[in-house]
Amino acid sequence: MTILVTGSTGNIGKRVVAGLVGAGQRVRAMTRDPVAATAKLPAGVEVIHGDFERPETWADALNGVERVYLFSYVDPAPSSGPGFIETAVEASVCRFVVHSAAAAGFEYQGDPEDTTLSAFRRHLAEEREFHRGIERAVEASGAQWTHIRMGLLAAGSDWAEAVRTTGTVRAPFPRSGSSLVHEADVAEIAVAALLTDEHLGAAYTLTGPEMVTQEDQVRAISEAIGKEVTLVELTPEEARTEWHDPAEGMDHEIIDWILEQLEASVRYPGPVPPTDTFERLTGRPPRSFTQWARDHAEDFR
Ligand SMILES: NC(=O)c1ccc[n+]([C@@H]2O[C@H](COP(=O)([O-])OP(=O)(O)OC[C@H]3O[C@@H](n4cnc5c(N)ncnc54)[C@H](OP(=O)(O)O)[C@@H]3O)[C@@H](O)[C@H]2O)c1
Repeated sequence: MTILVTGSTGNIGKRVVAGLVGAGQRVRAMTRDPVAATAKLPAGVEVIHGDFERPETWADALNGVERVYLFSYVDPAPSSGPGFIETAVEASVCRFVVHSAAAAGFEYQGDPEDTTLSAFRRHLAEEREFHRGIERAVEASGAQWTHIRMGLLAAGSDWAEAVRTTGTVRAPFPRSGSSLVHEADVAEIAVAALLTDEHLGAAYTLTGPEMVTQEDQVRAISEAIGKEVTLVELTPEEARTEWHDPAEGMDHEIIDWILEQLEASVRYPGPVPPTDTFERLTGRPPRSFTQWARDHAEDFR
């Protein structure tokens, strides 16, 4: 059986590849840059050029594939021609494990275009629609499926460069936080869903074990690298000025929803409360942020 991993060079994808290789599976890793990916991925993986935006690359990527880890940059409903999901099923794919997000499970179903909503609520509605769009397309494809809805990833932190170069982190709302999830936990469940039949038709919201505030995160990183990291508290207005960089995608709308989310998450447990999903599935508690910081200490040194 050949398993195709899309998003194979990303935070979760590379762990899914490693987990499948470790389980002795035949793995094909899709990437837009096979040379760079080959250097990063374990030996024995077939690295193939593929791009969700270039349908001419899909046939080779999907040839002989039965199961797919489906990254969320796929277009579930292209305006012309069959999409990647349909093409995959027409080839030979009979199972998708979907890289989704906790937002897909939110109750809230407002209209993302409704400008009377706050920036954060519009963002949640948009995220929900985006990820549910992919989930729905997979559910309608006739293939088997499992949705992996992850909360905020610890690996999403962009503090490494600041810690390395200045020894400080500048952030508003230091007591805000989230139940950050370790990418290894997400990949572990994704691999199980690809390889066993125990997770068919399930949608799993995966989080870390507890809310970790920004203060907790800085403390854990300091301990992991054996060096004091200082957290400098910014006012929301200072953050607004420091972050504004439309060329990097940080416009006022995005900054508004990040600030709102941080403010909302000062009150425990925040917008994405911890779930017991990982423990229920594995019998083990999820990996902690302290563990994550130790595993990534080199990035911060
Ligand atoms: N970060 C979080 O906390 C979090 C939490 C929940 C859900 N999510 C969801 O995860 C997604 C992004 O995660 P991330 O930023 O952490 O990603 P990431 O790990 O940086 O991975 C991005 C991957 O996308 C691949 N890719 C980019 N463009 C592609 C294309 N046109 N065709 C095929 N592959 C392409 C890249 O592969 P190559 O460059 O090798 O081609 C890379 O493997 C979003 O949909 C987000 O909603 C993120």
